[in-house]
Amino acid sequence: MSKSGEGLADLFDAAKAAQANAYAPYSRFKVGAALRTESGAVFAGCNVENAAYPEGWCAETSAIAAMATVGERRIVEICVIGDGEALCTPCGGCRQRIREFADAATLVHVAGPRGVRKTFRLSELLPESFGPGHLPA
Ligand code: THU
Repeated sequence: MSKSGEGLADLFDAAKAAQANAYAPYSRFKVGAALRTESGAVFAGCNVENAAYPEGWCAETSAIAAMATVGERRIVEICVIGDGEALCTPCGGCRQRIREFADAATLVHVAGPRGVRKTFRLSELLPESFGPGHLPA
């Protein structure tokens, strides 16, 4: 997919504001994420690192936790922002965490400091994914 999406400015702004608060003293790679749910609400989060390195977590994980905390369960689109040349695409673990509350058509916008650089469908980032529907009811 190319750049697209309606009313993306609010998501981008929320992700950028979250990125500014990222706690990344070890990698120095600050990431922000903001997601929109079916209700239209926006939840944001940043990466939070830890001196015990594996205990840190990603920006997407923070945003998903904020969403789940108020009882929301469906992600319509998510914007992830990181600095640097390479696209800050969600890590493998976060793709699966997004998948839990999304579907193949969910939009994943990858942004840099100046705006969204590329938009993917979740199915492009996590093809043939395993999800809640695979488990017996
Ligand atoms: N990071 C994220 O927050 N999201 C991603 O999808 C990729 C990586 C964070 C984790 C760590 O704090 C830093 O970026 C460097 O890996």
